Amino acid sequence: MTRTRICCIGAGYVGGPTMAMIADKCHDVDVTVVDINEEKIAAWQTEELPVFEPGLLEVVKARRGINLHFSTDIDGAIRNSEMIFVSVNTPTKTYGVGAGRAADLKYVEACARRIAAVAEGDKIVIEKSTLPVRTAGTIKRILEATDRGNRFQVVSNPEFLAEGTAMRDLESPDRVLIGGERTPEGDSAVDRVVDIYARWVPKDRILTTNLWSSELSKLTANAFLAQRISSINAISALCEATGADVDEVAHAIGTDSRIGPKFLKASVGFGGSCFQKDILNLVYLCEHFGLPEVASYWAQVVEMNDYQKRRFARRIVRSAFNTVSGKRIALLGYAFKKDTNDTRETAARYVAGDLLEEQANIAIYDPRVEPSKIMHELGVSQDSTQVSICADAYEACRDAHVVAVITEWDEFRDLDYRRIYEKMYKPAFLFDGRNILDLDAIRAIGFEAHGIGKPAPSVVSL
Ligand code: NAD
Ligand code: UGA
Repeated sequence: MTRTRICCIGAGYVGGPTMAMIADKCHDVDVTVVDINEEKIAAWQTEELPVFEPGLLEVVKARRGINLHFSTDIDGAIRNSEMIFVSVNTPTKTYGVGAGRAADLKYVEACARRIAAVAEGDKIVIEKSTLPVRTAGTIKRILEATDRGNRFQVVSNPEFLAEGTAMRDLESPDRVLIGGERTPEGDSAVDRVVDIYARWVPKDRILTTNLWSSELSKLTANAFLAQRISSINAISALCEATGADVDEVAHAIGTDSRIGPKFLKASVGFGGSCFQKDILNLVYLCEHFGLPEVASYWAQVVEMNDYQKRRFARRIVRSAFNTVSGKRIALLGYAFKKDTNDTRETAARYVAGDLLEEQANIAIYDPRVEPSKIMHELGVSQDSTQVSICADAYEACRDAHVVAVITEWDEFRDLDYRRIYEKMYKPAFLFDGRNILDLDAIRAIGFEAHGIGKPAPSVVSL
């Protein structure tokens, strides 16, 4: 039986886990994951993978060296593969036209140019990265501009995994989306990609569409998900003012089957590499296509999120008698959500930044994030006296005036808050930015405790 050879350019949070899953499910497919980052490729060969995801290491260890390979030989992988997934980063542009909103497609373009330059034979190029609608057209033009006798098909196959649950999402996706050109060659390229997923994903969960629908569906899905969070966060501010409890409101509306219960957890603000970037990209696209009303509608989702992050830091300062200058504030968690070491666009960074501006001393503990990464992101040196990274939550909270839960790591639910309270300055303030703690129990210890969309007891009573 002939073996199918695929490669993936980009060994990050998407490329690594998705390719590991394909290798695990398709033993007759040889998968090579390549990247320009030598350190990352080296780490994929060790026990300390560059991406922390529950269940990932086990799968990688089972297939590594058998049908899953990690390499920096990008040209070799392109030449040897019939299908090439492109899973490079597409961050928000920071310069020139569209700065702060448009997606920076330079890494995607570099891949297309490399494929065009080195391919020997026909290739199916698969967009795994999240891209602005109509990017497949650009990729195809670049691929075909180098007339070396090769034929290319571009297929869109956006990824919907969420970090922290990536392996579960990949194993049992709500759907797999595959978009292609509506031509016989396009259909046959789509079929080749369908064949891979069909090994473990039920056929009725594999959706095929035209290219543009597939590209736009990815941006739209993220915009809708983020919109739900901004909507419930907007309501959380009203809850705090009125005595309503945001979790009760979320539960009450979520039982309406038309609304549904998921993604209604009020928080300190959504983070992650994608929601903000993808909505800003959607906003930019709408403006580009002459739709300013649609653009400003979606821009509000990001504005509300910025407001939520700022509001959290302000509530801390206001409660602590309007000054946190010189006071120790413990931040529990730094990752943008639990079960990941990813910190991109984490709310922690904004909250810490605002508190540092108020001259607070910040003590941070996160079970998975590298201390040097935190210091680098906060723009402080390793010997900073204003920021310290602690080995555990108790150390972070010792001598603190305020404790703030920023990431919903499970271990923060189970801490001994009485022990924490005893070692803090009084009055001891606790802010739960994730609503994971029982505030009544925390208040019974002696804390002045605040949640998101959780009114103070004085506001609740009639
Ligand atoms: P990442 O930054 O973790 O990984 C991207 C990798 O691409 C990096 O390791 C980088 O070195 C490599 N790279 C960049 N240019 C390259 C080139 N020319 N040749 C070889 N390697 C190159 O990014 P990610 O989180 O994996 O996201 C990748 C894409 O997937 C983005 O478009 C993102 O929007 C999308 N996405 C991400 C998630 C997620 O949860 N992180 C989920 C769905 C979709
Ligand atoms: C999100 C989407 O859920 C994925 O489907 C998508 O593939 C991915 O973006 C992407 O394109 O990158 P991810 O960002 O990894 O996944 O994680 P989410 O679970 O969506 O959480 C995003 C942020 O929203 C986190 O900061 C999380 O804490 C926050 N959140 C989530 C809330 O504040 N409330 C909620 O109810 C849900």
